[in-house]
Amino acid sequence: TLGGYSDFMSKEIAEQPEAIERLLKGRLGEHGIEMDELDMTDEDLARIDRIYIVACGTSYHVGLIAKTMIEHWAKVFVSVEYASEFNYSDVLVTDHTLCVIVTQSGETADTLSAARRLKGMGCKVFAITNVLGSSAARESDGTLYIQAGPEVAVASTKAYTAQMVAGALLALRLALACGQMTRAEVEKVFRELEKVPDAIREVFRRSWQDKQAVPLFRDAQSALYLGRGTSSTTAYEGALKMKEIAYVHAEAYPAGEMKHGPIALIQPGFPVLAVVPADHVHDKTVSNIMESKARGARIVAVATDGDEQVANLADHVLWVPQMDEYVVPIVAVVHLQMLARYVALAKGLDVDKPRNLAKSVTVE
Ligand code: M6R
Repeated sequence: TLGGYSDFMSKEIAEQPEAIERLLKGRLGEHGIEMDELDMTDEDLARIDRIYIVACGTSYHVGLIAKTMIEHWAKVFVSVEYASEFNYSDVLVTDHTLCVIVTQSGETADTLSAARRLKGMGCKVFAITNVLGSSAARESDGTLYIQAGPEVAVASTKAYTAQMVAGALLALRLALACGQMTRAEVEKVFRELEKVPDAIREVFRRSWQDKQAVPLFRDAQSALYLGRGTSSTTAYEGALKMKEIAYVHAEAYPAGEMKHGPIALIQPGFPVLAVVPADHVHDKTVSNIMESKARGARIVAVATDGDEQVANLADHVLWVPQMDEYVVPIVAVVHLQMLARYVALAKGLDVDKPRNLAKSVTVE
């Protein structure tokens, strides 16, 4: 039930901090990250030399973030694949390849087919899912339930952020097993993850910032979403939300690719949303904002508290608290979920049931 909320999407957005708290609870043990669900020993984990993460839609974006975390912390090569493409392409598995499927519903046909294919090739399959007893859970060797509670709105919100946290836990578990991080280093990152729920609550208190940006998108035919590094994924996910519920053609690009084509779209008044938190590629994205502005773009930026440079360049800023750059995507995306919802509401659209879409896609 809606329990006082006007739509399921707003309810599910609001449930994110508690979902993440539940998922993190009891995960940091004496020896590191507790993840019995993996059903693999440290020796098994240390042997993994390649990981395929296979998923669709928003869950695919979780895969992109998980890749960044696993490669950064555990130093294991990861390939992230769209399940619908993966099933018809060559797959290069080794004797020690792990397959990770990410699927909120656990019933997405393409994702299940990919898992079956990899299993048939001898890979261990690990599922990150929300639905207890789903096909993904039944068919995998191990399952990490994100325990986010039922997600009813077609646009995935709380499953996205909780699945990212699950990806982080997996990455840290691997990093320890592979000897790439010490228990103390893992604990430091874990403490950053523990800050996420309150940081999201802080973003909720700033929802007026998203409301103020609505006029830039409400009548727009098209918009560009830009980001680099971990923020490119936030741009992809934010653009997907804007497309699917507000029907604005939002195209996401790694900020550095803009000069290779999309910049031709920019004319005076064109909306550009730049995800530019304080991180090691911040200044590069700032120069992309300048290039867009010089051509008349209206800029909405997601930036870290205190960033005066971005404040001076942007028409609107969606502020996020200071966070680790591998953790900030879990917080920054919440602004983009709220922005898409406000734009959809301003257009009189049904945010829970966008046209042409089903909650789970059970045909290939
Ligand atoms: O249940 P799944 O996570 O496997 O679903 C995958 C996609 O269908 C899903 O994320 C879809 O992209 C959402 N509508 C995005 O909001």
